[in-house]
Amino acid sequence: MAMNRPRPKLPVLWHSLSARLLVLTIAFVMVSEVLIFVPSIASFRLKYLEERLAAANIAVLALLATPDAMVSDELEMELLSQAGAYVIGMKRPDGKKLMLGMEDKVPAIDAQFDLRQHGLFRSVRDAVVALVQGRNRILRVVGVSPRHNETEVEIVIDEAPLHDAMLDYGAQILAVSIVISLVTASLVYLALQWWMVRPIRRMTESMIAFRGDPEDLSRPLRVERRSDEIGVAQAELAEMQAGLRASLQQKTRLAALGTAVTKISHDLRNMLATAQLVSDRLVSSADPQVKRAAPTLVAAIDRAVDLCTRTLDFTREGPVRLDYRRFALKGLIHEIGADGFANGKTELVDAVGDIELEADRDQLYRVLANLVRNASEAGAVEVTVSAATEGERVIIEVRDNGPGLAPRARQNLFTPFAGSGRAGGSGLGLAIARELAHAHGGDLSLVSSDAGGTLFRIDLPARRPAA
Ligand SMILES: Nc1ncnc2c1ncn2[C@@H]1O[C@H](COP(=O)(O)OP(=O)(O)OP(=O)(O)O)[C@@H](O)[C@H]1O
Ligand SMILES: [Mg+2]
Repeated sequence: MAMNRPRPKLPVLWHSLSARLLVLTIAFVMVSEVLIFVPSIASFRLKYLEERLAAANIAVLALLATPDAMVSDELEMELLSQAGAYVIGMKRPDGKKLMLGMEDKVPAIDAQFDLRQHGLFRSVRDAVVALVQGRNRILRVVGVSPRHNETEVEIVIDEAPLHDAMLDYGAQILAVSIVISLVTASLVYLALQWWMVRPIRRMTESMIAFRGDPEDLSRPLRVERRSDEIGVAQAELAEMQAGLRASLQQKTRLAALGTAVTKISHDLRNMLATAQLVSDRLVSSADPQVKRAAPTLVAAIDRAVDLCTRTLDFTREGPVRLDYRRFALKGLIHEIGADGFANGKTELVDAVGDIELEADRDQLYRVLANLVRNASEAGAVEVTVSAATEGERVIIEVRDNGPGLAPRARQNLFTPFAGSGRAGGSGLGLAIARELAHAHGGDLSLVSSDAGGTLFRIDLPARRPAA
């Protein structure tokens, strides 16, 4: 049975809930960092290009200081290298154009970007292309002067420095992400560890210990004062353990009591058998006083022996085994009448009609005989057994016109040994009868009982239930 299964161990650390939570937290933080990383590297690239345009803008303004918008070749080279560009061009709103560098000396242009038009998708796409680009591309970038929106600035630059700067920036973000995810993960881990994993572990340990030895009271589950799900689970578990423990103890005691009762009944029956032998001889005594008292004595001893026998039968009887067969109720009722279960003062009326059913005939005999005998013992003049089919079930009713149930009997009617309301009764008859009805998949119940009589009802399946 379940008790024989090997006791489970708590999982090792890397299989534990805590470790899984830790890994998941780190993964989730990394995912959210990536979601932040992509747009931020795109905006980094845009800023970089804008700064280059701004620097080029200042460089080209130097031309304005000269009368003919011309500078020496050396100065021109100097200005261009300061701005990091091959060519710088500017178109002012008045139509005036300024230019640094020779367009014919510029290498072929690989890509063009206009910073005046940049949507999120386009800038993300351009940034990703720039990042994965292996070779140095020559870029032509067009934008506006940072000072004057109408002034158009244009530069031709290498992409390699931009690529390097983006890589640097990415590395920085990666480092920051790792730090953030480690810190967050540790905090989340500690919080979960404290709030969930630790109490769940304690509950698991308690369950394992309880299964190992349910009666061990030394380590009760400590219930925390918290109103969340875990608090409720702890309280319920503690309650359940206490309840189970109590009923287990009670069952153990009852089992011991049962064994004692069996022993006592057994020995008592042997002693009574001796008394029975002696009392039988008293009946034929010459002393008229002894002779007169003897029958009462014999009857009392007989009843006591009977009680012992039935108690022993009850404690020894195992689970009911049913031997199904099809039969008519009428014959069964006749048999009960003929066997004298309704004593001489009671008439057994058969009103079962032609009803047939599939059941264990001997066991149903016991059920009905118990009910008829009870009615007869209670002093009923007439006991009527009637039957009817209701769909797939057969309903048998046993009605008598006796005095009704005594209050004591009514309270514990189907409890073994507890429901007897008459001298010499063991209080087993109805308990056994109901057990037999249950074994058939049916039920035995008290419908009514008053000074005018008592009605019991047996409800059985008409056919043997499919296996
Ligand atoms: N038809 C009835 N009319 C009045 N009282 C009844 C009737 N049936 C049962 N009782 C009461 O219910 C009690 C319990 O019945 P039950 O058959 O379980 O035990 P018992 O008759 O006392 O003992 P046993 O049947 O084991 O000899 C009876 O003692 C009796 O007082
Ligand atoms: Mg009885």
